Amino acid sequence: MEYPKDVIESVLVTNEEIQSKLDELCARINKDYDGKELLVVCILKGAVCVFADVLRRITIPCNIDFMVVSSYGSSSTSSGVVRILKDLDHGIEGKNVLIVEDIVDSGKSMSYLMANLRTRHPASVKLLTLLDKPDRRQVELKADYYGFIIPDEFVVGYGLDYAEQYRNLPDVCVLSPKVYAEN
Ligand code: PRP
Repeated sequence: MEYPKDVIESVLVTNEEIQSKLDELCARINKDYDGKELLVVCILKGAVCVFADVLRRITIPCNIDFMVVSSYGSSSTSSGVVRILKDLDHGIEGKNVLIVEDIVDSGKSMSYLMANLRTRHPASVKLLTLLDKPDRRQVELKADYYGFIIPDEFVVGYGLDYAEQYRNLPDVCVLSPKVYAEN
């Protein structure tokens, strides 16, 4: 898709590339959890697109749930403590939980959240992230399933935002620096 140059510098991952990667990841997931049941958890808001696309590829019995989380502090000085604005609707004791995220950056949010979920005695907790920015990692965290390793660029689209905008773009795009220079 073509985007205005003053907003989008370049397309980093096309929707077609995302779809094909999700075919591959979800085939693995369906195999890994064969004979089991899965609870697929969407971390709102950024994961909304990847979650919907993952969910439609899951062929084993599954339930879904949603969490809304927010880091304490500003985005540049994340404390690593995550405030749970909306928790899971049900307990997860004995369940196989697959968390679906859009991006792992410093790793602090997921590290905190996964530790929190593990205290609830699930059978397992695994992480799928579409995007991984290892250059920004501050705590050790490896996703069980990841789509694309990306450079340290400001990306938007396919669920990811800048000031709550651009989540609707079908591709993962590099935001033009002009956009944040204006603010
Ligand atoms: C983003 C993203 C991850 C987190 C990653 O969420 O969806 O949850 O930041 O950052 P970290 O690895 O440095 O902890 P954000 O707080 O921007 O909220 P959103 O999903 O509603 O856009």
